[in-house]
Amino acid sequence: MVSSATQRQAAATVDTSALLADIWYYAMPSRDLAPGRLCPKTLFGQPLLFGRTTDGEPFALLDICPHRGIPLRHGRFDGREVECCYHGWRFDRTGTCTAIPSLVEGQNINLSRIKVRRYPCHEAAGNLWVFAGDDPSVAPPPPTLPDTGCAGPRMVTAMRFPCHIDHAVVGLMDPAHGPFVHRSWWWRSGRSIHAKSKRFGPAELGFRMMRHEPSRNSAGYRLLGGKPATEITFRLPGIRIEHITAGANALVGLTAVTPITESETQIHHVMYWNMPWLTALRPVLKIFARAFINQDRVVIVRQQDGLRHDPSLMLINDADIQAKWYYRLKQAWTRARAESTPFENPVTETTLHWRS
Ligand code: FES
Ligand SMILES: [Fe+2]
Repeated sequence: MVSSATQRQAAATVDTSALLADIWYYAMPSRDLAPGRLCPKTLFGQPLLFGRTTDGEPFALLDICPHRGIPLRHGRFDGREVECCYHGWRFDRTGTCTAIPSLVEGQNINLSRIKVRRYPCHEAAGNLWVFAGDDPSVAPPPPTLPDTGCAGPRMVTAMRFPCHIDHAVVGLMDPAHGPFVHRSWWWRSGRSIHAKSKRFGPAELGFRMMRHEPSRNSAGYRLLGGKPATEITFRLPGIRIEHITAGANALVGLTAVTPITESETQIHHVMYWNMPWLTALRPVLKIFARAFINQDRVVIVRQQDGLRHDPSLMLINDADIQAKWYYRLKQAWTRARAESTPFENPVTETTLHWRS
């Protein structure tokens, strides 16, 4: 039984209403956006039109023509400019209007003042990030991944969860669901629940589980051989980076959670590694990675049935402390942006204990 004070505390901590603004979100793997192509995609509630010029430059515009509001995705793209399908107004990759075909001589309109809203893009390590705001200087840049010597991802798994980003983030970071949700012969058996103690500390826009030896009931790590050690960082808005090393072997997993709308969320799991033998196993690994993330999706789908009734929820110590930090980090970021003050990380160094 949990006291009503604990429930009230959880309720006060849980703010699931607003999607974070002025922050970098993961958009898509770079390879999903070929040169000379457009890719419409709603993210953080905004209809976006991603594109890549023929010379390789990615961009993102609001997918709404400033003339009469039709989505620009229905238009043509010549690899340099987007032409609206309705009256043929043209826009360059910065969103600036370059042509209005209906104009006759003497009708002087300052085209450079007609703009489609543009969302800054950042591309690195084969990932495309998009900034949910106008001025990226107000936020730290997207995370830099630990070096594995790979120019781009070795494997990408993409999935959609039918839930608010908070439930996707909290579900994916949850240390106590493993033995129940990921119970399978190839990962771990339900019977092996161990007591765990992990050291945590603050990190940029989030927190870090300090480098440690992964627990013995996670079979996946054993494949790497040697003495594996792992370090996991989490940061807003929903980025988890796991860096596993075992001797000279290195593996990086990036899990990026981006809201599509208030009730739908995209998940990308992007992996990098330097072991040729793992590349040979990729077709099998792909099946397992998908099955694993789908276990998280299935439980989230079920959870939605309960959440529809708007129950009050609990976050308990210590298993849900990372979730509490997530909500506090969100609040701190929202406050910092609203008041134009520096972001103050609410996480302090501590050891968390739980069984899983
Ligand atoms: S609506 Fe786009 S050019 Fe008129
Ligand atoms: Fe999970």
